[in-house]
Amino acid sequence: MTDTTSSQIDHLFNEDRRFAPSDAFAADAVATKELYAEAEADREAFWAEQARALHWHKPFTEVLDWSTPPFAKWFDDGELNVAYNCLDRHVEAGNGDRVALLWEGEPGDERKVTYAELTDEVKRLANVLGDLGIGHGDRVAIYMPMIPEAIAAMLAVARIGAIHSVVFGGFSADSLRSRIDDAGAKLVITADGGYRKGKVSPLKPAVDMALADRNGSGVQETVEHVLVVQRGKNAVEWTEGRDVWWHDVVPQASGEHEAQPFPAENPLFILYTSGTTGKPKGILHTSGGYLTQAAFTHKVVHDIHPETDVFWCTADIGWVTGHSYVTYGPLANGTTQVLYEGTPDTPHPGRWWELVEKYGVTILYTAPTAIRSFMKLGRAIPKKFDLSSLRLLGSVGEPINPEAWMWYRKIIGGKTTPIVDTWWQTETGAMMISALPGVTETKPGSAQVPLPGIAIDVVDEDGTHVGNGNGGLLVITKPWPSMLRGIWGDPERFVETYWEKFQKQGYYFAGDGARLDDDGDVWFLGRVDDVMNVSGHRLSTTEIESALVANEAVAEAAVVGASDETTGQAVAAFVIIKQSYLAANSPDGLAQTLRLWVGEQIGPIARPRDVYIVEELPKTRSGKIMRRLLRDVAEGREVGDTTTLADTAVMSVISAQVR
Ligand code: WTA
Repeated sequence: MTDTTSSQIDHLFNEDRRFAPSDAFAADAVATKELYAEAEADREAFWAEQARALHWHKPFTEVLDWSTPPFAKWFDDGELNVAYNCLDRHVEAGNGDRVALLWEGEPGDERKVTYAELTDEVKRLANVLGDLGIGHGDRVAIYMPMIPEAIAAMLAVARIGAIHSVVFGGFSADSLRSRIDDAGAKLVITADGGYRKGKVSPLKPAVDMALADRNGSGVQETVEHVLVVQRGKNAVEWTEGRDVWWHDVVPQASGEHEAQPFPAENPLFILYTSGTTGKPKGILHTSGGYLTQAAFTHKVVHDIHPETDVFWCTADIGWVTGHSYVTYGPLANGTTQVLYEGTPDTPHPGRWWELVEKYGVTILYTAPTAIRSFMKLGRAIPKKFDLSSLRLLGSVGEPINPEAWMWYRKIIGGKTTPIVDTWWQTETGAMMISALPGVTETKPGSAQVPLPGIAIDVVDEDGTHVGNGNGGLLVITKPWPSMLRGIWGDPERFVETYWEKFQKQGYYFAGDGARLDDDGDVWFLGRVDDVMNVSGHRLSTTEIESALVANEAVAEAAVVGASDETTGQAVAAFVIIKQSYLAANSPDGLAQTLRLWVGEQIGPIARPRDVYIVEELPKTRSGKIMRRLLRDVAEGREVGDTTTLADTAVMSVISAQVR
């Protein structure tokens, strides 16, 4: 643990504010404290009951098969259709006219899409996918802006039993290409472009670049077609025979499409996330268990009353939060939700609050980094809008500091709304640790307690429970329905990354440090591995290091996550430049070039905040870079213990160079 983390934690532990649910909220809350007792009495029966809230074409008789850990099967002999659960069944229940999506484009254009309309669009698209040769088990990459078609694309892929891999629209052509290749995608669904920060940000050109002629590259092209939504109206190149306009095929397609049942363990999606090596991991999720937990947690943690609530999760569908709490959870629960295309500050810094007022948002789910950036801009901006419709606020993606928590409650929540701080991961598929609104007395800064049906612990390196008042590693001790089923194409890495560390106990190792307070509530301390968390997005130090050394000017690079007031962590890179390049370029010029380079290689979110040009890196005698020391420098602290360095003088040289 770094020095900052421990001082932050001491600070957190002086936190004694408590917020009990109001009687009014508790009276109407979906969650009840009995859920804990029910789950405690019989965990599997509890999850089976939650699963039965879905529509099963063929009911399951088995709940959990854990005979070959860590490969779990949930509801294995049951059959369902995920898209049917999110769409058709609401229409059949007479709710076709309910609005599913209150969409707002960044320029201010708007569309209301009802459940009946979304169902119709998905059926047509499902037929189009069939025409394009996509069937059960095929992989489809989705690289899109936040428009209703993106949600329709995910659901249509799910509907036909194919597997989607959504790639965040902010990722570069290279990142897209490696994800297409890893999954062997046959189709890419994209748009010409989407609006970001007041202008059209092109997407199709990145797809074209990713799919540029591979003759001689040794890589077999798997993509047969590119389906393109027209959104930005930017000029795009066209490859005849490969590229297809959405508007030329989807409206014309038949609206008849019966959802076929698929086994509960049919793969639903792959989502790539950063790990501790340079290569992102394709996290694999399947259908029945995933949908069960996404829908259940959405309902109880966000206190969803589908007839009256207007839900808004601000995450992009390129992240797991967008999968579980924009697409699958809310739609499975028949929720009305806001979908916003653009950035929070375009065309003005009050844009989000304007949308809350305009659509009467009742539940808002966002990330601490966003809250902190609004805090910085000041309360005057949200105060200009009527936010009184809000009755519940949620947080996700990184630890929320008590100051941000208090500001969120006071300024956005009108001093009354409960806040749920929800801990989970791409790998867990759905929320795992969170207060239940209307039930739990909340503490600013703590994620608090495992959800009903979830078993966790905080343990030391040997897997022994640390006890209240102590810190350690967060583990999940029992399988859960929405757990990842593996890493695409790499079962060994799956076992190694998550299960080997506590193999004896059979625990899942999450990679997060955590502490239990005197009440046994969980406080998260950040990652314990080489994964950074920048604005709630996971980035791997190694991935950025490989991008840096791929630049011809760079001899060596070390990347650390330095704490940042707004983004939680920021990327700080220490780079050794080859002599020939040093002579010909200014250090500032080189630093700027490398920042942009990383942005091009991986995507703008990975762009280092700081690039320090140094002559040496601190290494142990065995050659391991001591990132801890670099973090001290990047965070402007006195450098810690250097006695294990091969050359103990190196840190004073580096410190002198970066100041
Ligand atoms: C961090 C996002 C503290 C954590 C859903 C985790 C959090 C990683 C919280 C997963 C929270 C997420 N409090 N830390 N409420 N939520 N994290 O896969 O380090 O993008 O391991 O999933 O984010 O990030 P991922």
